[in-house]
Amino acid sequence: MKKALSPVAFGRIDETDDHLFYAEPRIVTHIDDNAIAAIQDFFDRTLPRNAVILDLMSSAFSHLPEGFPTERMVGLGLNAVELQVNPVLDEYVIHDLNANPTLPFDDGEFAAVIMTVSMQYLTKPVEVFREVHRILQLDGQFIVIFSNRLFPTKAVYIWRVTSDAEHAELVQHYFCLAGGYAKITFLDCTPQTDEYTDPVYIVMANKGEVP
Ligand SMILES: C[S@@+](CC[C@H](N)C(=O)[O-])C[C@H]1O[C@@H](n2cnc3c(N)ncnc32)[C@H](O)[C@@H]1O
Repeated sequence: MKKALSPVAFGRIDETDDHLFYAEPRIVTHIDDNAIAAIQDFFDRTLPRNAVILDLMSSAFSHLPEGFPTERMVGLGLNAVELQVNPVLDEYVIHDLNANPTLPFDDGEFAAVIMTVSMQYLTKPVEVFREVHRILQLDGQFIVIFSNRLFPTKAVYIWRVTSDAEHAELVQHYFCLAGGYAKITFLDCTPQTDEYTDPVYIVMANKGEVP
């Protein structure tokens, strides 16, 4: 069922301009090494090689496997210093998706779009998912990866009050509401180790017909 979500769901504790929160560069990883290794392994198995890829809500690290070949790797985020030091980006764009969900890219420009541990900060996720659909090539992939960490003041209400399992349902619901996506799939890629590891959850889909 395509049930719309109330705007209340997307309220945040800190409603100030997102540029302020991300003004200071954070050259850090936001998940632990086991989780990063699981993401790299997933990308290695899943992302197209020698393709044009967008890292949405990007910063200093895109978590591609070492030496992964791309034709063109673009990052979109809010902090120029973080994006400048990201070793895999060929170019970057500073763009606030909450202020303006329209993506500054052409129709069909990308073979894949990735968005890693940032889903919880989007206040207009369905609009952004529609835009990702527009900029993907037919059958291109949108891969949304999330864990259980967050900056609570900037995360939307619905993410803060729901569980990991409900986050997976929510992201699938965003894909459904956006329309035009096929093969919507949930994967639990959490590393299987005896020590603690951050969880790694993935919801991905391919561009189907135009919504
Ligand atoms: C937790 S970090 C994740 C960064 C990176 N994807 C990673 O895997 O390490 C969240 C990122 O979301 C970006 N971000 C937050 N709010 C944003 C907004 N309104 N528009 C665009 N990017 C945003 C920030 O620039 C920040 O780099």
